[in-house]
Amino acid sequence: MSYYQRHIFFCLNQRPNGEACCADRGAQRAFDHCKSRVKAEGLAGPGKVRVNKAGCLDRCAAGPVAVVYPEGVWYTYVDEHDIDEIVERHLKHGEVVERLLVPPHVGR
Ligand code: FES
Repeated sequence: MSYYQRHIFFCLNQRPNGEACCADRGAQRAFDHCKSRVKAEGLAGPGKVRVNKAGCLDRCAAGPVAVVYPEGVWYTYVDEHDIDEIVERHLKHGEVVERLLVPPHVGR
């Protein structure tokens, strides 16, 4: 069994040159919200869920993005309601939130 049941990584990359990046699209706020929701739901910790910062995940055109492992499911989000849905449905119950999926071929 793996140490964490699920891991969610948020790209928090900030580009200094004005190019599109997740940090300019609310990533830090979403990360902070996800962390507090996971904690409040009692999902944080070994055998449960870990919320992590990441640098550029190279799917910037779909940004802001986050990815959930071990499923390898990529999400984009607009606001805290989207994060709440990912926490409740995917991180808690293992259901994929179809409406927030990054289209398969969107990259950088
Ligand atoms: S800046 Fe977020 S995926 Fe590249």
